[in-house]
Amino acid sequence: SHRIMLGPLVAAIDQGTSSTRFLVFNSKTAELLSHHMVEIKQSFPKEGWVEEDPKEILQSVHECMERTCEKLTQLNIDITNIKAIGVTNQRETTLVWDKETGEPLYNAIVWLDLRTQSTVERLINKTPGRNKNHLKHKTGLPISTYFSAVKLRWLMDNVAEVHEAIVSHRAMFGTVDSWLIWCLTGGKSGGVHCTDVTNASRTMLFNIHTMDWDPELCKYFGIPMEILPRVRSSSEIYGLMKICSSWKCGALSGIPISGCLGDQSAALVGQMCFQDGQAKNTYGTGCFLLRNTGAKPVMSDHGLLTTVAYKLGRDKPACYALEGSVAIAGAVVRWLQDNLGIIGSSEELEKLAASVCTSYGCYFVPAFSGLYAPYWEPSARGIICGLTQFTNRSHLAFAALEAVCFQTREILDSMNQDSGIPLTQLQVDGGMTSNRLLMQLQADILCIPVVKPSMPETTALGAAMAAGAAEGVSVWSLNPEDLSEVTSEKFEPQINPEESELRYARWKKAVQKSMNWET
Ligand code: G3P
Repeated sequence: SHRIMLGPLVAAIDQGTSSTRFLVFNSKTAELLSHHMVEIKQSFPKEGWVEEDPKEILQSVHECMERTCEKLTQLNIDITNIKAIGVTNQRETTLVWDKETGEPLYNAIVWLDLRTQSTVERLINKTPGRNKNHLKHKTGLPISTYFSAVKLRWLMDNVAEVHEAIVSHRAMFGTVDSWLIWCLTGGKSGGVHCTDVTNASRTMLFNIHTMDWDPELCKYFGIPMEILPRVRSSSEIYGLMKICSSWKCGALSGIPISGCLGDQSAALVGQMCFQDGQAKNTYGTGCFLLRNTGAKPVMSDHGLLTTVAYKLGRDKPACYALEGSVAIAGAVVRWLQDNLGIIGSSEELEKLAASVCTSYGCYFVPAFSGLYAPYWEPSARGIICGLTQFTNRSHLAFAALEAVCFQTREILDSMNQDSGIPLTQLQVDGGMTSNRLLMQLQADILCIPVVKPSMPETTALGAAMAAGAAEGVSVWSLNPEDLSEVTSEKFEPQINPEESELRYARWKKAVQKSMNWET
C-alpha cells in the first residue's frame, strides 16, 4: 500500500480537566487528520475537594498517542511526518513528584478544589485593608483557591511525603504541562523540568512584569524556589520525546516537544486572536473568556485576571490578556448526569432543554467551587431558585444552560467596562459549542452574534501551531492572508433585548443569594 504524501504534520497533546486528547494536523491546511480522546476520572474525596491521578493522566496521554498513531497508519499516513509536538493543559492543577523515583507524591489537586478556602481567607484577613488584590500588582491575580501556590502550600503542610521530599531535595513541583513534559522527555532518567510563561502566570509565584519566578512571592507562600520548573517561552524546543519501547507509539520517539501553552492561551492562539482587542470564549469544564491586550499587562477594575497570553519564541515579546474565568460550565452537565442522574449524556441535555425552551422562572447558580470572575467569592455555594410545582427536569436542564450563558454575560460586561470598547461579536470554541441551543441562547443573552469555527479543536491547534513555529514549520493559520479560509457558523440574537435584560436581572438576584445564603 502506498503512503499518502502530505506536508509536514504537527501534533498536540491536549490534557484538559475532563479529558485528554492527542491530535495530528496537516500544517499546510490545518486540517485535523486524526485524533483520539480519553476521559479522565475526577475524585471528590471530601466536600469541595477535587483530585486526579497523575499516573492516570500520563497513561491517558500514552493511550491517546497510541490510538492516534494506529489510526494514522490505517489512513496510510506516515507517522515520521510529525515534525513537532505541542502540549496544552488544564492550568493551575498542582502536582509534586519525586525526581529520583519518578513517583507522584500525592494526587493532582485540581484547579476547582476548595480545600484551601480557610487558608485563603486567613491570608486575605492578614493583608492591609483585607484586600484580596494584595498581590495583584505582581501577579495579575486575586488571592484565591484557584491558583497553584496555595495548593502547593497545602501539600507541603499536609502530606508527609511532600515535606520529606522537599527537605531531602528530591521534590519537583509542576502544573500538568511540567509533569507531562518531564515524563515524556525521560522522567527520572533525564526528564526536562520546565513550564511556559502562560502556565507559570497561573501559579501566583510568577511576576508577570519581570516574566520570572518572584522571590518575594515564593517567600510569602513559603515555597522553596529549587522545586520550581524552569520558565521557558511558549514556543521553543524543550526536549525530545523519549517513549519507552513497551509503548506502541514508539515512532514518536525523538520528535521535539516545542510548544507549551495553558489551554486557554492555546485557544486564543488557535482562534488567531493575535491583535490587541481580539477575544475568544472557550466552553470546557469551566468557561474562559480571554481578550488580547497586546504587549502591556492591563489591570482590571472589574474582577478580571491579568494573565500572560503567549510568548511565541525565546526572543519574541510576551503578549498579555484580560481573562474572565467561570469555574463551572461543562461541569454542570456532568453534575446533572452523575450526581442527579436526570440525563444520560450531554446530547440528552440539549434535547431535554429544547423540549421546553424556557426555565419557567427557575434560576440555577452552579457555584460549586465558590464564584470566580467577577466576584472571587470562595464561600458562595450553588443554588436553584424560583421552583414551583410546575418545574420539571427539562426546566432545570434549560436553567443549567442559561447559567453558562449568564456567567459569560457577566464576564463580557466586565471586559467591556475595562476596555471601554465593547465586543461586537463573540468568537467561541470548546466541547459545549456543539450544543446549538446553548449557542443560540448565548447570542440571545449577550445581544451580540456568537461565531463558532467549523474546526472545534482550536485549543490543540494553538499548541500545534506554537510547536510548529519553533521547528520552522509554519502552520497555515499563522498566515493572515489565509484567514478568509476559516469557515464558521454565526448565531444571531433572536429575542428582544428587553426580555434578555429582564432575565439577566433575575439571574443577578440569584447570584446574590448564592453568595449570602449562609448568613
Ligand atoms: O484554568 C482552568 C482551565 O485551564 C481548565 O480548562 O478546558 O479543562 O475547562 P478546561
